[in-house]
Amino acid sequence: MSKLIKLFDPVVDSSEKNALVKVLDSKFWASGSGSGHVSKFENEFKKYIKSNSCIAVNSGTAALNLAFSLFDIKNKEVILPSLSFISTAHCIVENGGIPIFVDIEPDTLCIDPEKIKQVISKNTAAILPVHFGGMPCNLNEIRKIAKSHNLHIVEDAAHAVGTKFNGKKIGSHGTVVCFSFHPVKNLAMPTGGLISINHKNHKKFRELLFARRWCGITNRKDADYDVNELGWNYYMNEFSAVIGLQQLKKVDKLNKIRRKIARKFCNEINIKSKMPFNENCSYHLYWILVKNRQKFRQELLKNGIETGTHYKPIHLMKMYRGNISLPITESIGKQIVTIPIHPNLKKSEIEKIIKLVNNYA
Ligand SMILES: Cc1ncc(COP(=O)(O)O)c(C=O)c1O
Repeated sequence: MSKLIKLFDPVVDSSEKNALVKVLDSKFWASGSGSGHVSKFENEFKKYIKSNSCIAVNSGTAALNLAFSLFDIKNKEVILPSLSFISTAHCIVENGGIPIFVDIEPDTLCIDPEKIKQVISKNTAAILPVHFGGMPCNLNEIRKIAKSHNLHIVEDAAHAVGTKFNGKKIGSHGTVVCFSFHPVKNLAMPTGGLISINHKNHKKFRELLFARRWCGITNRKDADYDVNELGWNYYMNEFSAVIGLQQLKKVDKLNKIRRKIARKFCNEINIKSKMPFNENCSYHLYWILVKNRQKFRQELLKNGIETGTHYKPIHLMKMYRGNISLPITESIGKQIVTIPIHPNLKKSEIEKIIKLVNNYA
């Protein structure tokens, strides 16, 4: 039996291994203040995306939770897509807000700006777009809507390290943009996340988040410090940061390989409904729509190919179930299958995926 082709598979080499051993030997594994490699990673990532300020945290979930702590969304509505990982909605509730789910565009699976317009009310505080699979949302439209209604935008860019919009990397345009560096992501760490801030008060915002990511601790001088408000244990550790520094050096090259595979999938997979080709996309994942999903996934697994379902729509989960209908999201939620697109795939494995998808879809 040939080796299982995994759905996600981080690309690592001796550079990560050597860097990890150095951190291990140094015995400096973490600091709440994020000195050491965490601070280096923040600076390098800031240069990479051309952001005003970056603050590294220990997950994409932490990034989203902290991002919304910058704005007052208590009892106010935040508009978001339902086809996403659960943290996209939890961060709103965590900060006292009310999630308002809207439908997506059937080709990009990103939030549909027209649907945003339909649900804006006097109580709307923010829009939370997700760059789904690394496909850039229509930020021009979303920003226009936000501006005319005085709304905040917090971008969920968990899938979008290296994605571009209007010629610039995601993370450089938005006032607050959240990344995830979970091991399955394009820039992989054991666990990690980051908030990019381009708000006019970015220095003040960074200062607030700097304290909040470490239990609210401020004004540290020698053994003395103070606490003004609540905070969490959200800081990134040195092992994650040092892996991230190595991953960052190769992420553009790896994303290029992902795009090359995506182009081949677009040309050679004989299914009408599949992720389109976009040269600005990071292709964190590649999705197709199939009618008999369970059987299709079983057949691929029998043939040594792991697949996934990203995602079950959030508005169908018990915690978020309400009296809403999102026809496009619901239909796609039943049919979506994600197939391997990681840069470790060999040519023969890519051919095999295409052949089997065409056989069983
Ligand atoms: C769209 C989206 N948002 C947020 C997250 C949360 O990131 P993390 O797993 O790093 O907490 C994920 C991770 O899977 C995600 O896919």
